[in-house]
Amino acid sequence: MPAIVLVGAQWGDEGKGKATDLLGSRVDYVVKFNGGNNAGHTIVINGEKFALHLLPSGILSENCVPVIGNGVVIDLEVLFGEIDALQARGRSTEKLVVSADAHIIAPYNTVIDKVTERFAGSRRIGTTGRGIGPTYADKMNRIGIRVQDLFDEVTLRDKVTSVLNLKNQVLAKIYNRRALEVDAVVEFLLSYADRLRPMVANTALLLHEALEDGKTVLLEAGQATMLDVDHGNYPFVTSSSATAGGACTGSGIPPTRIARVIAVVKAYATRVGEGPFPTELLDSKGDELRNAGAEFGTTTGRPRRTGWYDAPVARYAARINGVTDFVLTKLDILTGLPEIPVCVAYDIDGVRHDDMPMTQAEFHKAVPIYQTFPGWEEDISKARTLADLPANCQAYVRALEEMSGARISVIGVGPGRDQSIVLNDLLA
Ligand code: GDP
Ligand code: IMO
Ligand code: MG
Repeated sequence: MPAIVLVGAQWGDEGKGKATDLLGSRVDYVVKFNGGNNAGHTIVINGEKFALHLLPSGILSENCVPVIGNGVVIDLEVLFGEIDALQARGRSTEKLVVSADAHIIAPYNTVIDKVTERFAGSRRIGTTGRGIGPTYADKMNRIGIRVQDLFDEVTLRDKVTSVLNLKNQVLAKIYNRRALEVDAVVEFLLSYADRLRPMVANTALLLHEALEDGKTVLLEAGQATMLDVDHGNYPFVTSSSATAGGACTGSGIPPTRIARVIAVVKAYATRVGEGPFPTELLDSKGDELRNAGAEFGTTTGRPRRTGWYDAPVARYAARINGVTDFVLTKLDILTGLPEIPVCVAYDIDGVRHDDMPMTQAEFHKAVPIYQTFPGWEEDISKARTLADLPANCQAYVRALEEMSGARISVIGVGPGRDQSIVLNDLLA
């Protein structure tokens, strides 16, 4: 199996970290191809909990090479903070490789992310405040600072000077914030250069050679389909390409190498930040789901908005990403509910829509059309085969599979690495 892509099907936090970790011991490389430390992946191994933000989830698998691809944006302080924290817990991070082309989240962009959100008031996106949007904007604007710039002080100083000429005006005159000193920013960035240097590589070439050698490469998305800058609920999205297409541009691996696309989808839905969410539960049922599923952000600690499974979203994700397999997570959280509604289509101004409507304005008005399934009472956290699941639970899984546009190959019944039911081998 050459290259495999793993993406989120909903609004993030589907359990991509656990799914990647599940495959980590069987793949040679895990590549993070988009986003930065806006991501938060929780992985539980033998009861020990790890929260990763910037590091690829493959970092916890001994024989796998974790790669930060060119499509990622890097906060250097967070990168080394995470590396140090893992090392302190006896985990090796020596194999980590970082693309020379990845962009750096400079300190001014973190400030600008936060002040822009404050300035936007009720029109805010609800970002994670990690400088993601401004850094990708700089990249597209061709004024970004890249990893390779840290090894050329003259160029770095030149770039920072020219960027701050503009950004300091914005910070001081629009947002009433203190201007940043060129020297301070350059010194801050250079303070990481020596430590970063040995990790840096031409990762696109490295991955090409690995594939030529018959190695297996897993491309792991941060965020998710509905947060993708092109295919998500724009403008309530992140600023990168979180869908399967982004795996190619964010790693340098061509589409012809990709053999499989896995989408991770939760048995219900959650969202952090602002933006439309048709199946959102604003009553006590939403609180119950949040508490049962421990739906609080790994990155910001914000309570996640909760709602029922949205099949049009899953079908959309299947189509946009070319999904071959779903990993259905957190099925165990639904245990004990007398009945489980599933959104099968939307009612928009009295018209039934089985697919995502064309415009964002229509999506804002989408009212879910529900089909309700009977629940189950039995604890399923120890189930390891489909037959271990109660009949109603099996029926729920089958119904989701039929309405979501691809087969369900793995079912998650708990946060632990071993708490999975494998129906089809994702690497066969
Ligand atoms: P990611 O951002 O997609 O990697 O997901 P997060 O780590 O932010 O959120 C998923 C949460 O669900 C984490 O706390 C996981 O440990 C947990 N989790 C993943 N799969 C399952 C599952 O099947 N059952 C339960 N109960 N928890 C799960
Ligand atoms: P993982 O990888 C859930 C959301 C933010 C906000 C929007 C834009 O753990 O699934 P940004 O800081 O990226 O500019 O914020 O995107 N968001 C996430 N929501 N999971 C994530 O990552 C997210 N990363 C960003 O809440 O609504
Ligand atoms: Mg997360």
